[in-house]
Parts: sequence; C-alpha cells; structure tokens
Amino acid sequence: PLVTSKEMFKKAYEGKYAIGAFNVNNMEIIQGIVDAAKEEQAPLILQVSAGARKYAKHIYLMKLVEAAVEDSGLPICLHLDHGEDFEICKACIDGGFTSVMIDGSKLPFEENIALTKKVVDYAHERGVTVEGELGRLAGVEDAVKVSEREATYTDPDQAVEFVERTGVDSLAIAIGTSHGAYKFKGEPTLDFERLEKISKMLPGFPLVLHGASSVLPEFVAKCNQYGGKIQGAQGVPEEMLLKAGQMGVCKINIDTDLRLAMTASIREHLALHPGDFDPRQYLKPAREAIKNMVKHKIRNVLNCSGR
Ligand code: G3H
Ligand code: 13P
Ligand code: NA
Ligand code: ZN
Repeated sequence: PLVTSKEMFKKAYEGKYAIGAFNVNNMEIIQGIVDAAKEEQAPLILQVSAGARKYAKHIYLMKLVEAAVEDSGLPICLHLDHGEDFEICKACIDGGFTSVMIDGSKLPFEENIALTKKVVDYAHERGVTVEGELGRLAGVEDAVKVSEREATYTDPDQAVEFVERTGVDSLAIAIGTSHGAYKFKGEPTLDFERLEKISKMLPGFPLVLHGASSVLPEFVAKCNQYGGKIQGAQGVPEEMLLKAGQMGVCKINIDTDLRLAMTASIREHLALHPGDFDPRQYLKPAREAIKNMVKHKIRNVLNCSGR
C-alpha cells in the first residue's frame, strides 16, 4: 500500500539507518527505483517536486506510483518535495500523496512557523505526514565564514521551537549540503557538531538531509567521455551520509545521482550505437542504471537493505 513516513522513520531512527527519498519524473525512473527497493527489500520514499508535477502531470505520477505499489507489493511513501505554499500541499494531500514537505525555509522564522502549522493541521486531519525545513541550503557552500554559517545553517534552539510549535513529523536541516552537482568548491565538509546538537535536543525526532547526492566521479566521467561537459562537480562523500544516518537523520534525498546515472547511460548507448533510434533501446539500459544506483545507495549509503 501507499504509506506515510511515520512507521518508516520510527524504525529508521531506532535502527540508526536512513531511508532514501528518490525524486521521480517518469515511468523508467519509477520502475528502476522500485525494482531496486524490491530486490533489496528496503523501505522506500518516492518524491515528486513541483517541477515533476508540471512535467509529467500529477495524475500520471500518481497512477504510475499506484501501479508500482501494486506490481511490487512494497509499502511506498509518496511525498511532495519542496512544497512552496499551502495550495500545492493541499493539492497533493487531496490528490492521494501520503506525505508532503512544506518548505518555508526562505521565510522569516515566524512566517515559516505559521505556514508550516497551517499545512500540518490540514495534513494531520487527513492522515498525511509533514516535513518542514529550517535553515537555508542554497549557497551554503560559500558559507565559510562563521557569521555566514550562523545565518544560513539551522539553529538548534530554533529547531526545537519550530518542531514544538508546528507539530511537523520531520525536519530538513541545513548543515552544509546543497542541491545539484556542484556542492563544494574545496574539501567537502558538513557541520556534524551542529547535527549532533540538533539531534540531542530533539531525541527520537527524525531529521532530513536534502542535497545528499554523492556525485560519483565515475558517472560524471562517463557523461564527459561521451560528449558531456560537466566540470567541477562534487558531492557529499558517502561515509558522511552513513554517519549522518546514525545521528538522527532518517531521510536522505537523492535526485542528482539518478540524473547522472541515467544521462551517462543514455549518452554511452547513443554514442556506441549511433544507428539506434527506438527509445526503448536506450531507456532500458537507462532504467537499469537507475536501478543499480539505487541498489548501491541502499547498501552502501543508507544501510537500509532488508529493513
Ligand atoms: O530539490 C530539487 C530536486 O532535485 C528536484 O528538482 O525541481 O528540478 O524537479 P526539480
Ligand atoms: P541532490 O541534488 O543532492 O540529489 O538533492 C536532492 C534533493 O534534496 C531533493 O529535495
Ligand atoms: Na522532501
Ligand atoms: Zn531538496
């Protein structure tokens, strides 16, 4: 069935592992991810961004995910990624999602609380779980100075107040990750001291890490080998993600690594088989590449195989 994140997070917290939340945009991506989770018997969150809803349409993604649940027999949580206002959260709750994120992280603290609380009230009445966000992800890779870090990274005291006053089920925090393929200019670092503080002040409460792709060099290299131009890409080292998963982080968001795996595969196929033009010829290996990437994450990054 489609399930909320509630039970998954409780088990993940206690078992000191994390659940992968993978972004989905089409059938091949959904099938690749779900096949991997099924083979690994792993808990799974599929997440849909506003851009994905616009690209594929809500109803197509909804029906594809329902098909995945029925075909695989897996419990799957279907989550809205980065909902920016009440309306999109309401549309997803009314439209069958089991979890939503309201991302008020750009708003002043009190406005973020008010908006998040409004979504929580609506969602909880309907049995849907809610993720909030506090702290700023974008541009934090530049926050080398302590003063900038204090202004953008999640403040532990505020995190406690935010969770208490909004009633959110999970909280996305900023500790140095960022979205996309260019996360760090120099050595990758995350503020584990801050994570430890937040985690200790919110015992038993599930935290979420966005911007958690590792940007594996092998996949960037394959893109570039077959005509791509991706320069200076760098992600979060896998051992840091494993560590975060033992420190109260129950959900790890991954999109960029799926994009790189799929694009590398398609580029390679078309370069090696220039006569091919049946989309199934390159989408089948692309789907397989997604599956292999997700299996790798489940085993080596999330530690959630067989859970
Ligand atoms: O956080 C962003 C996710 O990677 C989704 O990206 O908004 O381009 O669909 P998108
Ligand atoms: P990446 O860009 O690191 O894959 O992060 C995805 C994400 O946080 C989606 O919400
Ligand atoms: Na999310
Ligand atoms: Zn995100």
